[in-house]
Amino acid sequence: MHVRTYESIAPPRSEAQKPMQYGSLTVIPVLRSEDSVFGAEVSGVDWNRSIPEATVAQLVELQDKYGVLIFRETGLDNARHIAFSQQLGAELEVNPFYYGRENDRLGEPLLFDVGNIEMDRTLVKPDSRRWHHSLGNALWHTDSSYHQRRSKYSILLSHGNPVKGGSWTHFADTRRAYADLPDTKKKEIEDLVVEHDLWHSRKLASPIVYGNPLPHELAAKPPAYHRLVQKAPDGRQTLYLAAHAKLILGWSFEESQKLIWELIDHCTQSEYVFSMEWLSGGDMVWWDNRQSMHRANPYTETMTVRDVRRSTIIDDGPMAYGVSIEDRRAIASKTPNATDL
Ligand SMILES: [Fe+2]
Repeated sequence: MHVRTYESIAPPRSEAQKPMQYGSLTVIPVLRSEDSVFGAEVSGVDWNRSIPEATVAQLVELQDKYGVLIFRETGLDNARHIAFSQQLGAELEVNPFYYGRENDRLGEPLLFDVGNIEMDRTLVKPDSRRWHHSLGNALWHTDSSYHQRRSKYSILLSHGNPVKGGSWTHFADTRRAYADLPDTKKKEIEDLVVEHDLWHSRKLASPIVYGNPLPHELAAKPPAYHRLVQKAPDGRQTLYLAAHAKLILGWSFEESQKLIWELIDHCTQSEYVFSMEWLSGGDMVWWDNRQSMHRANPYTETMTVRDVRRSTIIDDGPMAYGVSIEDRRAIASKTPNATDL
């Protein structure tokens, strides 16, 4: 199998755009093209108190439009990070690696510890299972597409000061990328259903360690099924894609991977991508997994301490539950030689 890797990169900053006022909020778009915007830095939120519902509604409107919102130096702690996340959706994902307060660095089941620090405050050890697991996060993906009930938002918050020039998260605009596809390709893919499997992306990034996931790992995260082309919250069509995407229903593995990576490569061309630099403790980025992809820089032997914590808000939209078993059976019945569903 072809091992997929990306370099650890520190790209130049995007050219600064003109700030715009949106009520009491100031918005600086990141990527702007003729008919599309993607990513925005937002200021004017008072993070010292609970966020008024009117402000939450304004922020959701901005989120629907921009797909990725960046906030600087919020000063949020775990409790307020979670409280804000709960204003955006009734349910948050529980960290599957949470084994009780005494066994968790954050002591908080609703936050994912996605930095590079172990319980004993040392950096994650090269070649440990956690190290290899994290390599998959450096592939382009969207969070939790491998859940049959997926998540809509992720909110990543930095604690402590990152080393400047050393810490980046990269984002790709899957709405504009879809719009730019030729009509023949749009027609070819419009009805496709994709099997997403966490263990597929782990294997792509680290075949030696994750070539054969452990039985309890496989049982904990079975695959999930979602439409490839979907309507994004802003009403435009988008590609729901990730390195977790393993199979197109009714297609062979080889054919599926060829199309999936052709589309991921299309979405992640430079005109659809920006990179967020982590500048200070309290920096926070909130993205919509339904209309973007992202990736981290991979762990390296020379990395410095990075303490970032993620909340993940479960989807409550019309496509939240993906494609049902009945619909998958209907697709299989029309597809000769389809694999068992
Ligand atoms: Fe992620």
